[in-house]
Amino acid sequence: MRQFYKDNRIVPLGIMLLTFFIFVYHFELGRQVPLGEIPAASAPNTFVVESTDPKAAAKYADETVDQPVHHTIPSPVPSAKPPISTSTSSHSLHQAKGLATDDVILMFKTGATVLWKRVPIHMATTFSPNRIDSKNIIIYSDYHETIGQWDIIDVLSNSSDKVRKSETFQPYLQQQDYEDRQNYAEMSNVPGDAAGPSGGWKLDKYKFLPIIEHAGRNKPSAKWYIFMEDDSYIFLPNLLRHLDQFDHKDPWYLGSLAWIHGDYFAHGGSGFALSRGAWEKSFGKDPKIVEKFEKFTEEHGCGDHILGHVLHEYGVQFGETTDDNRFRYGFNPESHWSTWYEPANWCKPVYSWHHTHSKDVARFYNLEQSWDFEKGPLRYRDIYEALVAPYLRPRAEWWDNWSGKYEIKSSMAASAEPPSTVKSTETWRSAWTSVDACEAACISWADCVQWSFYEDRCKMDSMVLLGNGIPEGDSRRQTSLPWVSGWLPRRIENWACQE
Ligand SMILES: *[C@@H]1O[C@H](CO)[C@@H](O)[C@H](O)[C@H]1NC(C)=O
Ligand SMILES: *[C@@H]1O[C@H](CO)[C@@H](O)[C@H](O)[C@H]1NC(C)=O
Repeated sequence: MRQFYKDNRIVPLGIMLLTFFIFVYHFELGRQVPLGEIPAASAPNTFVVESTDPKAAAKYADETVDQPVHHTIPSPVPSAKPPISTSTSSHSLHQAKGLATDDVILMFKTGATVLWKRVPIHMATTFSPNRIDSKNIIIYSDYHETIGQWDIIDVLSNSSDKVRKSETFQPYLQQQDYEDRQNYAEMSNVPGDAAGPSGGWKLDKYKFLPIIEHAGRNKPSAKWYIFMEDDSYIFLPNLLRHLDQFDHKDPWYLGSLAWIHGDYFAHGGSGFALSRGAWEKSFGKDPKIVEKFEKFTEEHGCGDHILGHVLHEYGVQFGETTDDNRFRYGFNPESHWSTWYEPANWCKPVYSWHHTHSKDVARFYNLEQSWDFEKGPLRYRDIYEALVAPYLRPRAEWWDNWSGKYEIKSSMAASAEPPSTVKSTETWRSAWTSVDACEAACISWADCVQWSFYEDRCKMDSMVLLGNGIPEGDSRRQTSLPWVSGWLPRRIENWACQE
């Protein structure tokens, strides 16, 4: 009897092992998985594969971030360097001495039509006294308000008569009438809501020069002026560590690179930092900057560009040279779920996110609070682990189709050239035929980490971007077939850091 039970345990085990080997064998034949990859069943109809070549991953991680981060660059990547500023040189990078939040001013920009929606979350997070003292924060808007202890400055109040006559400036003048007629620019779905004067966002460009002028004039002992918008989050401890490598007496202007009309500048939404040295070299030398560039401001549309242009006029360059990514990486023009994670940025610190929802701001703050910065900065991989990886699945229906490095469509599949790590051209070219075939093609390419499939199209990428799915009950489900996306998280986890 005992013997029987024993056999009874061995037989199913034998069957399981046999099934497994048949599965693996079938798999090797059918999918042409490159040598060394061992598929492991992880969910019905899906499989996750270990990355094969840690050396390749390490080599990749070694490369600089210069590779353009597609979809998220706010403007074209410049093709030429501007002249190097005379007084800035690499010797001004110095050893960390421990920059504190008391050494910086946080310039926070909002506007009357979005303030009530976007600012309160920051009062519970970004402006927390355990993070930065309120005397180091200035909130700038285009209408004066008071919320609790916070006095919100109307930074356009000193605008000249000439500016006040401008067509684009009219929403500023109309704001008072909204107030006087008991309207609320809150859009919180409560009776009495109004959107505020139309075109209110156009006022934004007028704010940048007066903000910098005001902050530098009123807080002359600050070493750095850190700018952020109301739909951004800045990991302050990370950024302070970064800024501490630069001498604040030199003219530094650091952020996410953008480019318009031949001017290089720091993209406003990504946040940026201006050293006291840069302020003194420009605004400090000329108290009439706002007036002097009224015409330029009138003729251009983006305040961050206007500021960058003005700084250049006074010899303050963006970074040291625009294409050295020491001066611009880590400031992101998008949020964590619409940014690419790749070996090149995996181990780098993150300074900012833009287009943040209030929920994201809360999550970033929680993560920052729980982080031990003594052990090291928050890196892209840490954000990935905390806020991206939990959403990834081997396969998800109704998920956005972001993957894009390679696209195989029925119309061009026959001539599609696979990347060199793909052993089977056949597997690659048949990627468009089904969800399974698309997934198999991704697996056959050693660098592939995400794929998506729709009708007769398979897209694959060597970087990962979370995007978002279309939930049940969403009307978009009525208007198309389901996109199917999938990720290979085990390969992502194998991206290496040189530590
Ligand atoms: C406007 O001008 C007054 C008087 O010069 C000054 O005290 C104030 O700080 C200015 N406001 C801003 C926002 O620059
Ligand atoms: C995603 O798929 C839809 C079709 O459902 C298409 O219209 C859209 O252009 C695709 N988006 C991207 C980013 O490829």
